[in-house]
Amino acid sequence: TAPVVAALALSLPLASLTVTGLPASAAAVPKGGSPGATSIGDPLFPTIGNGGYDVRHYDISLDYRSNTSIRATTTIAARATKRLSRFSLDLEGLHVDAVTVDGHTARFRRAGTKLIITPSHPLVGSFTTKVRYHGAPVTHTDPDGSPDGWIRTTDGATVQSEPVGAATWFPNNNTPQDKAGFRVSVTAPSALAVAGNGTLVKHRHGARTTWTWTQPRPMATYLAMISVGRYQVTHTSVRLRSGKRIPVWNFVDPIFGSAKSERDLVGPIIRFEEGFYGPYPWNSAGVVIDNSKSGYALENAGRPVFDGLPDVLTEVHEYGHQWYGDSVTPKRWMDVWLNEGFADYTEKLWTAKHGGQSVRAQYQTIYDDTPAGGRLWSPAPARFSDPADLFGDPVYTRGGMTLAALRFEIGDTAFFSLLRRWAADHRYGSGTTAEFIALAERVSHRQLDGFFTTWLYTAKKPARF
Ligand code: ARG
Ligand code: ZN
Repeated sequence: TAPVVAALALSLPLASLTVTGLPASAAAVPKGGSPGATSIGDPLFPTIGNGGYDVRHYDISLDYRSNTSIRATTTIAARATKRLSRFSLDLEGLHVDAVTVDGHTARFRRAGTKLIITPSHPLVGSFTTKVRYHGAPVTHTDPDGSPDGWIRTTDGATVQSEPVGAATWFPNNNTPQDKAGFRVSVTAPSALAVAGNGTLVKHRHGARTTWTWTQPRPMATYLAMISVGRYQVTHTSVRLRSGKRIPVWNFVDPIFGSAKSERDLVGPIIRFEEGFYGPYPWNSAGVVIDNSKSGYALENAGRPVFDGLPDVLTEVHEYGHQWYGDSVTPKRWMDVWLNEGFADYTEKLWTAKHGGQSVRAQYQTIYDDTPAGGRLWSPAPARFSDPADLFGDPVYTRGGMTLAALRFEIGDTAFFSLLRRWAADHRYGSGTTAEFIALAERVSHRQLDGFFTTWLYTAKKPARF
C-alpha cells in the first residue's frame, strides 16, 4: 500500500490517510517521508506553485553573456513543512546542469514546467537547494497574449513576471503565497547597466561588472526583476513622510531623453500615497524605463518598470501597487482586483487632488456611461474562470469602482482606516478577498455580504452606484 499512501500524501493532510484503511499514525507514513505536491491548486493557474516547503530566501547569481545566453546558479533556502522525500520547483525552459541539496548531489528530472528534485535523504526542517543552469531564456506568453518573464530589448533584456514569468529565469516556488527575501547578483559587460529590486552594491572588474541587488523583505516571485541594457543610471534619494530618506535608482533608456519629470515625480507620488495608505513598504525606489514594447508597465517592488515614457497616472498606478500588490499580495490570482482595483483607485485619488473631479464623480461618469451590456460588467471582478480576464476592465475599473462604492457605503473614516489596516495587517504577506471583506465588516461594524456579492461576485451592472 505504500505507493497509494505516497500518492495521497501529495496534498492531503495526514488525517485524511485513514481513507486507505490505515490509521493516521506515524506508522502509516513511509519512513522516507512523502513527496511535496506539484501544485498549490490555484484555480486560474493549476500548474503553478509547489507544496511541502516554504522558501525563505533566493540567491540568484547570473552571468549575462547576451540576451540569449545566461549561465546562473540559484540557491534556495527553504523549510520543509513535512518530512519530504521529493519536491518540485517551477522552471520554464533553460538547461539544468546540476542540483545539490544541502551540499549533496540530488537527482532531478524535468516534467513540463516542473523541476522535480529527489534529494539523497528525506528532508526535515531547513534545507538549501542549489540549481546550476544555462541557456537562452524563453519568453512566456500569458493567457491574454502578453509577453511575460524574460523579454529581449534592443540592447538587453527586461524581466516582467506577472503572473507566471518568474520561472523563465530562475527556479522557484512560483505562487504569490510563498514570499521570500532576494539577493540577485548579475555580471554583465561593463558597458551595460543592470537594474534590480532593493539596494545596490556594484563591483567593476575591467570588462565586466557585477551588480548585486538585495531585497531583504519578503517579496513574491512575480515582483522580482532584473533589466539589463544601455541605461542612463541616476542615483539620488527621496524623503519619506517619516523624515527618513531612502535611496532612489533610476534606469532610463537614452532614447527617451533624461526622463527628468518621471524621475522627479517618484518622491511626490510616494509621499502622496503614504498620506492615504501608511508608510512606504520598501527600502528603495526608482523607475526603469526601457524599450521592451511589452505593452504594459509592472509594479516590481521598489522598482516599477515602464515600456516607454509613462504618463503621470501610470506612474501613480505602479507606485500605488507598492502597498497593494507588492506588500500585501493576493494568495490566488483570482483575487487580483485587490491589486488592480486599488491601483486604479489610487489614480483617481491623484486626479482628484490635482485639479480633477472627485473620485466619486470620476467613477460616476464611468458608471453612467457604461451600458448594462458593457464589457466592464462581465465577468465579475473576483469570480471568473478564464485567466485571460486577469487584467481586464472588470478587475481594474470595476475593482476601483467597488472601492468607491464601499467608501460611500461605510463613510470616509472607516474606509481609509480599512485601507491602512489592510496594508498594515498583511504587510509583506498575502491575503484573500474573503479576508478583505471580513476586515471591512470589522472596521465599519456593518454586514457587507450583500454589498460585496453585488460588486465583486455578480457579472451584472449593479443597480446603483
Ligand atoms: N500589474 C500590471 C499593472 O497593471 C499589469 C500586468 C499585465 N500583465 C500581463 N501579463 N498582461 O500595472
Ligand atoms: Zn496595475
